[in-house]
Amino acid sequence: MMLHVPEVLTPAELAECRQLLASAQWQDGLATAGTQAACVKRNRQLPENTPTIARLREIVTAALVRNPLFFSAALPNRILPPYFNRYEGGEHYGNHVDNAIRRAWGSPLNYRTDVSTTLFFTDPDDYEGGELIVEDAYGTHEARLPAGDAIVYPSTTLHHVEPVTAGARVCSFLWTQSMVRDDWKRHMLFDLDTNIQLLRANLGDTAETVALTSHYHNLLRLWAET
Ligand code: NI
Repeated sequence: MMLHVPEVLTPAELAECRQLLASAQWQDGLATAGTQAACVKRNRQLPENTPTIARLREIVTAALVRNPLFFSAALPNRILPPYFNRYEGGEHYGNHVDNAIRRAWGSPLNYRTDVSTTLFFTDPDDYEGGELIVEDAYGTHEARLPAGDAIVYPSTTLHHVEPVTAGARVCSFLWTQSMVRDDWKRHMLFDLDTNIQLLRANLGDTAETVALTSHYHNLLRLWAET
């Protein structure tokens, strides 16, 4: 499932991130690419020793964790520290799949990458190209979102970023180890949760909505790994 999560960042958070990123020193994006991805990755990334990276990570992670749509879609168990990248002057990232297992910098913990997220800091009017293209069983899907919005998609997909031919595209990208590793199960839980919320908004807590809520939690109990 590919999902657009609008307004992840508040305007104040977006402004702070843009200010922190404006003075950043970028390095070659090959630093975090696996061997296949390294062959096709042409962009720049914020290095781990950037003084402002901790604050940027704190803002992005907190904004996602408090977002009910992100939570319902990703069902996060552990979220890897976000990265930050910049594409300009024709930079792009060719077709690749994200590594299944990753470690946070300086941490011995292994994370399984179930859900990939890209959060946009630049408005689509400020650059040309740079579409994120994701291939799944239903075809190819394109994302080029307003600043402050995020796209969430399964890490199992092949995906690429089209060349940025004018301006600069600055984003955060990150991986989540979900409590539910299977995309189709997450999708079913998301649909069920979404419709329970709509029913509760329309009908209130009736015996039926309470029973469906119980059903949701029992499915989550059955499928979740924590
Ligand atoms: Ni990727």
